[in-house]
Amino acid sequence: MTSGLTLRPYESSDAEALSAIYRRAVFQLGPRAYRPDQVAAWLSIAPDAGMLHQIYTDGRHAIVAANGANGLIGFADLADTGHIRFLYVDPDHAGRGIGGALVNNLLEHARDARVSSVHSDASELARRVFERAGFSCVSRQEHEIAGTWIHNFLMRKRVLGAQASARRSQPKE
Ligand SMILES: CC(C)(COP(=O)(O)OP(=O)(O)OC[C@H]1O[C@@H](n2cnc3c(N)ncnc32)[C@H](O)[C@@H]1OP(=O)(O)O)[C@@H](O)C(=O)NCCC(=O)NCCS
Repeated sequence: MTSGLTLRPYESSDAEALSAIYRRAVFQLGPRAYRPDQVAAWLSIAPDAGMLHQIYTDGRHAIVAANGANGLIGFADLADTGHIRFLYVDPDHAGRGIGGALVNNLLEHARDARVSSVHSDASELARRVFERAGFSCVSRQEHEIAGTWIHNFLMRKRVLGAQASARRSQPKE
């Protein structure tokens, strides 16, 4: 794990840097698992700063990873539906467990927020990161982006025990 790593809530001034991390991650890490046409299709749906800001101010839990002088090096989020939409780490800092640290932070938040189950549509690159955090693969999914087929995996982890979620679903008196 990178020393000096800080995880903190998203701020509006982060949007530009996060959009750049998304593009750099797809461009440089994507080819480890996907063909050039698939990487190009993935890049074509990269959110710009405005779109990212809109998504990250809709009430979801959005966090960034910062590393002292290196500034922002990753980000992730969790909606109250339990869905993780983005998990991206800057390629210069990949392979050091930052993705796992982000996912574990989201799981802690899910427990605190009493979200019973967390899921994500994980890339080939992220699948093992989720598995190490205790997620199981539910299915392989094929998506078409601008005429190119690209796969990912539906990953899911139960967060609250069966008893706790049953208690939660009981109507209030
Ligand atoms: C998925 C991602 C967030 C993982 O973040 P990370 O901090 O690199 O995670 P880890 O440190 O656990 O390393 C992930 C893998 O990269 C490998 N790796 C090692 N050195 C690496 C390097 N220099 N560069 C890239 N990956 C490296 C690790 O061995 C590990 O492999 P494994 O999971 O098969 O065991 C990151 O790869 C990424 O941003 N990918 C592009 C975007 C993406 O796929 N997002 C997920 C969408 S849900």
